[in-house]
Amino acid sequence: MKDLTPRKEDLDRIEIASRDEIQSLQLERLKWSLHHAYENVPMYRQRFDEVGVHPSDLKTLKDLSKFPFTVKQDLRDHYPFGLFAVPRDQIVRVHGSSGTTGKPTVVGYTRNDIDTWADLVARSMRASGTRPGDVVHVAYGYGLFTGGLGAHYGAERLGCTVVPVSGGMTPRQVMLIQDFEPSTIMVTPSYMLNILDEFRREDMDPRLTSLDVGIFGAEPWTNAMRKEVEDAFDMHAVDIYGLSEIMGPGVANECVETKDGLHIWEDHFYPEIIDPETGEPVEDGELGELVFTTLTKEGLPMIRYRTRDLTRLLPGTARSMRRMEKITGRSDDMIILRGVNVFPTQVEELLLATTGLAPHFQIELFRHGRMDAMRVHCECLPAAASEEGRAAAARALGKKIKDTVGVSAEIIVAEPGGVTRSEGKAQRVVDKRPKE
Ligand code: DLL
Repeated sequence: MKDLTPRKEDLDRIEIASRDEIQSLQLERLKWSLHHAYENVPMYRQRFDEVGVHPSDLKTLKDLSKFPFTVKQDLRDHYPFGLFAVPRDQIVRVHGSSGTTGKPTVVGYTRNDIDTWADLVARSMRASGTRPGDVVHVAYGYGLFTGGLGAHYGAERLGCTVVPVSGGMTPRQVMLIQDFEPSTIMVTPSYMLNILDEFRREDMDPRLTSLDVGIFGAEPWTNAMRKEVEDAFDMHAVDIYGLSEIMGPGVANECVETKDGLHIWEDHFYPEIIDPETGEPVEDGELGELVFTTLTKEGLPMIRYRTRDLTRLLPGTARSMRRMEKITGRSDDMIILRGVNVFPTQVEELLLATTGLAPHFQIELFRHGRMDAMRVHCECLPAAASEEGRAAAARALGKKIKDTVGVSAEIIVAEPGGVTRSEGKAQRVVDKRPKE
C-alpha cells in the first residue's frame, strides 16, 4: 500500500492547533450556537425555559451539561421544517434520514452550511489520503440520504474528478472502476464486499485496480473487516463517520497514517459521552453514548443531540482534535439475549476469524418456546463449499461466539452468495420475535 500521509502544510491550521486554541474557539462558537437556537427555534426556547437555563449561563464548555438533550423524536414531532432556525427560503437543501418506514426525519442546510459541509468532507478525504486531482468513485446512494451528495461536494471541494455512480448495478461499478481508474472509492463497507464479489465473479484480480483508498462509513465495521478489504484490494480502508441530524458524512474521520480511531472535527461539533442510562457525562476514555452539539450550523442547530452510537473519546494523535473509537454499535442494535449484550460487530469480528467463511452475515432473532434465540446466517467461501467444510465452519463459529460473547447461537452456513447483499447500509439484525 502506498504511503498517503498528507503534507502538514496542506492541513487546515486548526487541525493541528493547540488544545487551548481549539477550546477557546469552541467556547466562542458554542455561545453563538446556543443563542442562535434559543432565539430562533421555539422548541429550544421552551426546553431551556422549562429547566431554567439561558444561553448566557454558559461560561465554560463544561456548563453545556446544564442544557437539555435533543432526541430523534424531536425531529419527528416537528416534521418537516419545525426545527429550522432560519426562514425556509434560506434553506438551500434538505436531506432525510435513512429509515425505511414511515416519515423521514428532515434536516436542512443554508448555503453556508453546505459550504462548511463540503470543507469538512474535503478535510476528511485529505485525512484519508485522497489528493486534489484524484479520480473519486462515489458509490454512496444519492438522494435524501446524505452519503452521495455529501461525498460528492467534498470531493469537488478538494479538487477531485468525481464519478457520481450512487449504489447498485454492481457489474457497472466494476466496469467503471476498471475504465476510469479512480484512486479513491467512497461506499459503505458492506457494499464494498459486494463489489469485491463481482470482481471475483468476473475473474478479475481486485489487487490490480487503481484504488489506493476506500473511505467507508454509514454503518459499523470492525478492524477485522478493515484487514479483509485492505488485503483483498491492496488499498487503505479508512473510517468516515457522520449522521444527517448533525450534518452528514464528515463529522469525524480517521487519518490514513494512524488508522487509530476517528478525529472529530471539533471546530464545528462539540462531542460529549454520556451514560445512556443516567444521561450524566462520563470522563474521556469511558464507553458511553455519543452526544453532539453543532457549533456553526445555521439551518438546523442541534443542541446535545443523542446519537445512540456507543463509543469513547480519546486524545488526539495525528491531529490535535480528539478521536472517537471505532463505533461498537448503536444502542438500538444491541441485542439482549438472556441477559447478555451482543453487538453485530462482535459477530463480524468472530466470523472473519473463522476459516472457510465469507464476510457476509445477518443475525436473526426469534422466539424458541419462551426463550429468545439467535441464528447467524453466513456463507462459506467457494473453497470450503463441501458438506463437511460448511459443518466445520458452523461449529467453529458457534464455539467462538459461545466462548467470547457467552451466548449460544445457531449457525447456518449457506452456499456462496446465500446471504442477502446490501447496496447501501446492511441490515445486520432481523428481529422476528413476536411484539409484546
Ligand atoms: O450514514 C451519514 C454517512 C454517510 C456517514 C456516508 C458516513 C458515510 P444517517 O443515515 O443519518 O447518516 O445515519 C447515521 O449511521 O448515527 C451511526 O449509527 C451510523 N454510522 C455512520 N457512520 C458510521 C461509521 C449517515 N463510520 C448513523 N461507523 C449514525 C459506524 C456509522 N456507524
